[in-house]
Amino acid sequence: MKIGIVGAGMVGSAAAFSLVMRGVASRIVLVDLDDARARAEAEDIAHAIPFASPARIEAGGYGDLAGASIVILACGVGQKPGETRLQLLARNAEVFRVVVGEVRSASPDAILLVASNPVDIMTQVTLSISGLPAGRVIGSGTILDTARFRWLLSRHLGIAPKSVHGYVLGEHGDSEVLCWSGARAGTVPADSAAEQVGRPITNEVRQEIDDGVRRAAYRIIEGKGATWYGIGAGLSRIAAAIGGDEGAILTVSTVSDVLGVSDVACSLPRVVGANGVTQELLPDLSPAEAEGLEASAAMLKDQVGTLSL
Ligand code: 2OP
Repeated sequence: MKIGIVGAGMVGSAAAFSLVMRGVASRIVLVDLDDARARAEAEDIAHAIPFASPARIEAGGYGDLAGASIVILACGVGQKPGETRLQLLARNAEVFRVVVGEVRSASPDAILLVASNPVDIMTQVTLSISGLPAGRVIGSGTILDTARFRWLLSRHLGIAPKSVHGYVLGEHGDSEVLCWSGARAGTVPADSAAEQVGRPITNEVRQEIDDGVRRAAYRIIEGKGATWYGIGAGLSRIAAAIGGDEGAILTVSTVSDVLGVSDVACSLPRVVGANGVTQELLPDLSPAEAEGLEASAAMLKDQVGTLSL
């Protein structure tokens, strides 16, 4: 599978590295305005190939995206310390107006995988500019927040993260909703599992995990300027689900109707395979979670209204 990545900054490069290490792509093309940067990242990542599966990675222009099955959009600016994701909107929407047209001309059949923030709104911008069906424009959404939730909960329970399930829904951002009512260890509800292992989920624990998920990016950005490993791994996970036609359930962002809010991009558990997103699965939610998800979707819809799409 050939995968293009537009934006060879930390997120795009971490995605490329993860794609190589997981053996997801046979060919990766990195496109960046700063061609020297793209070439340097491609060369550096290529040196990991002997430790992974055979693949080719190189820097190129938009024309080199021809034949790509997936193009990851990781271009534009990232948050500075203290900045919210939503504050990036105007700047990144401008960048996307140019980039999406170029990508569509070069690789009209590619599924577009959006990583730039605010990712839900950039997904909606991409859908609108590209004219693609909604299931073929996928935002990384809360795939990373869901991973953060599962990791923190697994640490609390002392159970492997792969056996701990729980979704983060709505905006990839401050208004996201941790779906505690559906959290499970195996098939056992998280609260019951926690009692059984002698680590009850008290209000304090719940608050700590909520903050650990919701504020993770702020803390990491404060410490090292940006986040990239987690999202890079999340992007390659989505690409693997597409490449392997897995039908995997992942919390990703696409434009749909969410609890009475029409035509909005935000994350729900969705089935991801060769044709992109083919199905969404709205979980049973507590009244507070449903209210939170609706408010998150409504806030995103309002933000999109500020753009002329
Ligand atoms: C993250 O959550 C900044 O959106 C990025 O790590």
